[in-house]
Amino acid sequence: MADQRQPPSPCYLLEERNLRDNLELIDRVQREAGCTILLALKGFAMWSTFPLIRHYLSGCAASSYNESRLAQQHFGGHLHLYAPAYSDAEFPELVKLADRISFNSLSQWHRFADQTAHVSCGLRVNPAINEVETALYNPCDEQSRLGIPAAALSAALPAGIEGLHLHALCECDADATGRLIEAVEHHFGHLLEKLKWINLGGGHLMTRQGYDVAQLIDLLKAFRERHPSLEVVLEPGSAIAWDCGTLVCTVLDVMERGGVQIALLDISATAHMPDVLEMPYRAALRGAALPTEKPFTYRLGGASCLAGDVIGDYSFDQPLKIGDRLIFEDMLHYTMVKSTLFNGVNHPAIAVRHEDGEIEVVRHFDYHDYERRLS
Ligand SMILES: Cc1ncc(COP(=O)(O)O)c(C=O)c1O
Repeated sequence: MADQRQPPSPCYLLEERNLRDNLELIDRVQREAGCTILLALKGFAMWSTFPLIRHYLSGCAASSYNESRLAQQHFGGHLHLYAPAYSDAEFPELVKLADRISFNSLSQWHRFADQTAHVSCGLRVNPAINEVETALYNPCDEQSRLGIPAAALSAALPAGIEGLHLHALCECDADATGRLIEAVEHHFGHLLEKLKWINLGGGHLMTRQGYDVAQLIDLLKAFRERHPSLEVVLEPGSAIAWDCGTLVCTVLDVMERGGVQIALLDISATAHMPDVLEMPYRAALRGAALPTEKPFTYRLGGASCLAGDVIGDYSFDQPLKIGDRLIFEDMLHYTMVKSTLFNGVNHPAIAVRHEDGEIEVVRHFDYHDYERRLS
């Protein structure tokens, strides 16, 4: 019989207890601050966990038809939709799924306004703050394609617009939310009174250790008191599944090349942890340290043929050997939704360690997954 306490390799392994802890904290914020918090599916869309998340959150934020369908089918509740541009072909289907839709430009609003009788509409605006160092993840640059700059909005919003949508943060602390709120009031304060809702986007990393949750609650409460007619919404992705699970993998080979010890793994940086290359950042590996800090240093290489499929250099207490298991920490938010089947490398299974310790594999991938996405 399969060992119910050992995940297969490779595998994304969700820790159900950690997810519940995050959700309890997020629920505290929404209750004490009197705001609505949605799950941003772009950051975390492991739908087998939706029954648990639904217990705490009332809906999802989606950015595409597929995310919207997933939300409708597996989550239910509210659906806030925002995409940089909608097509004529998909819009009629999208309005059926969402109860709020935000438009990224006035031209998009004018194009689709006459189809929005049954949804509440908003505009995404650019609050022009710079809270995100990595350019790839900074949506508020002056030349950003995301959101309407304050200067492009006239003194009044077009008739039919009931909300504003902003997304300006990435893995930020509560101080940044304070600066976001200041910028909102500075640039768009004159519009707020006439609106029904404001969505302050994602990037509020309230579940990271050390985050000042009380400060966030105070900021949101004070904002609500200044604008009592507004429903305040947040739509974090990372914060939902922050530190909620690992990527478990196995050493397939060990070699020395040009004086460097290399260990080849059954996962791929480019296919299974792309932010390691895109962000880029150093993934935390359980029990390992920076190169040379421990006696045995290895370059960890991925399973694809891409020359740059390298996870990084790590040091260990013992030499690595074929069959050793390695565990990369905090590998669920964004990692799982961005994974690909590049090069046909085996996609990690998806498993949950339930609160009683039992591991349930909720998804295996095989040749047919690879075949089905091509033709
Ligand atoms: C519009 C929007 N909302 C929410 C999010 C979620 O952000 P995070 O996962 O950093 O909380 C993003 C992330 O890119 C976004 O673009």
